[in-house]
Amino acid sequence: MRTHYCGELDTTFVGKEIELCGWVHRRRDHGGVIFVDLRDREGIAQIVFDPNFPAPFAIADRVRSEYVLKIRGTVRPRPEGTANPDMHTGAVEVVGDCIEILNIAETPPFQIDEHQTVAEEIRLRYRYIDLRRPEMFAKIKLRADIVSCIREYLNTRGFIDIETPVLTKATPEGARDYLVPSRTHRGEFFALPQSPQVFKQLLMMSGIDRYYQIVKCFRDEDLRADRQPEFTQLDVETSFLTANEIQAIMEIMIQQLFETLLDVKLPPFSRISYADALQRYGTDRPDLRIPLELVEVSDLLAQVDFKVFATPANDPNGRVAALCIPNGCELLTRKMIDDYALYVADYGAKGLAYIKVNDRSQGSAGLQSPILKFMPADVVERILQRVAAKTGDVIFFGAGSNTVVNDSLSALRHKIADDLNLYDGDWCPLWIVDFPLVEWDAQAQRWHAVHHPFTAPKTSDLSALSQNPAQLTARAYVRVLNGYEIGGGSSRIHDQATQQAVFELLGIGASEAEAKFGHLLTALKYGCPPHGGIAFGIDRIAMLMTGSSSIRDVIAFPKTQTASCPLTSAPTSAPAQQLAELGIKVVTKK
Ligand code: AMO
Ligand code: AMP
Repeated sequence: MRTHYCGELDTTFVGKEIELCGWVHRRRDHGGVIFVDLRDREGIAQIVFDPNFPAPFAIADRVRSEYVLKIRGTVRPRPEGTANPDMHTGAVEVVGDCIEILNIAETPPFQIDEHQTVAEEIRLRYRYIDLRRPEMFAKIKLRADIVSCIREYLNTRGFIDIETPVLTKATPEGARDYLVPSRTHRGEFFALPQSPQVFKQLLMMSGIDRYYQIVKCFRDEDLRADRQPEFTQLDVETSFLTANEIQAIMEIMIQQLFETLLDVKLPPFSRISYADALQRYGTDRPDLRIPLELVEVSDLLAQVDFKVFATPANDPNGRVAALCIPNGCELLTRKMIDDYALYVADYGAKGLAYIKVNDRSQGSAGLQSPILKFMPADVVERILQRVAAKTGDVIFFGAGSNTVVNDSLSALRHKIADDLNLYDGDWCPLWIVDFPLVEWDAQAQRWHAVHHPFTAPKTSDLSALSQNPAQLTARAYVRVLNGYEIGGGSSRIHDQATQQAVFELLGIGASEAEAKFGHLLTALKYGCPPHGGIAFGIDRIAMLMTGSSSIRDVIAFPKTQTASCPLTSAPTSAPAQQLAELGIKVVTKK
């Protein structure tokens, strides 16, 4: 129907007769001449209809926003002074000599270029209109390019793309499962996979050696801007490779992705231990573009009378940490400092002490702070030395449990970086390594796997598993980019005894382990190679590479924060007959 895309036109087309198809982006009447901005996925072209050609002019006069048109015309340069240098097609226009209305459209619920003022719920309900926006198309297209680059990289390195079941058994990745009732086995349920973890391990036991899959995973968990109930993983598993070897293959893949699609040379990947990351940034996914670090001061405060500091300083599960903001006296207003105290309260902090270093050369007299009266001058001096405070700096303090101090100061670090635009460079990729194998879940009163129960401990001494679980390190690694966890993986347990011991440590007894993972435990007996892998969140990579603030923007039909779909109204109730067939009775309905 057409010879070109609207967005292709430029001065090389001048004098050519072309045919275009697309949507009416805007129609303007200028002193008898009608301009139609015709839009397709590649961009917008300006079509001019002249009253001297009455037939096409009359049709052009009738068209409205989002009508679907086919036009024919000749490309010419825009008249002097009317070119639009911001548009690829801005130097030319098409003189329309033929126009056909392929379809009419009702007034759309929002104008394509007014999406910012529209609630996201409305954009999602009319997602097909939202996706007509060039910006949305560019995001969805880049996502497709990411997947195709990844496939090409892996296909040429011996990785085999294999599909694993979607109707399956629970795979523990820390979220709730989505369950699917079975009609043929009444009262029984499939679980949608939280990841293909066990299947990819079984594929290694099948001798596949290098597997990958771009695969939907399903997790019923609390949603945030970087989480969806169904999302896409690049899932990878390999045999006979060390963790370092796997990381190296993945590192090159990500570097090539950025180079090919964004023309960005990523800096070398740094490697930080989990313990270091928490100590210095308060989080296991730090954004290292922010040149601010938490500094431990617990040891300096253990003896002071000020209980707010001394109590956590003496508690093995507590800490007091400082965050020094260079030049903060000038950059931070009094109101900002007060607001930060409210901001950290959202993360459980009971307060936010601070010291303003007005003049470092004047000792105590040069400082301003609500807490000086509680602390001996020599302690204050040692704190200033430790954080390398200079005249003009502001030092914030977090005191409390490790969790509260880490959560609140890492959030504050981000907030201040955003407010003061403190980012160094555009991209900062890193690996976090040496994760603990397990952590204590006080609520459930049991150990819980930090990665997943199939991750290998560093020790091969099984007795160590029961002696001091908190000290165990896992062969796990997580890929972080600009403060987001984009991938995580590990070397796996490949012998039955270790797997059973880890299940036991996690409170999964022999019969429960058999019921849930009997297929894996059996397979481990028949010749399992050492293996390991990783999974990347494609949505998160696409979000970062397109500069989006939410992964919903890189998913064609995403769910809302409450895990529903405004477009289809899913989830919906099921007809009584279908429920009867499944043997399901709905007890309560909202
Ligand atoms: P993990 O649970 O760390 O590991 O998941 C891997 C990556 O998937 C992405 N991701 C998500 N993206 C969007 N929405 C979600 N709800 C969501 N949950 C996770 C993240 C994360 O880094 N089987 C293991 C991998 C392995 O050990 O090989 C796994 O699933 O980017
Ligand atoms: P208070 O004695 O509660 O008035 O606190 C004195 C100062 O310490 C105030 O600036 C508080 O914001 C700060 N503060 C109180 N609790 C904490 C805490 N847990 N962490 C950091 N600062 C705190």
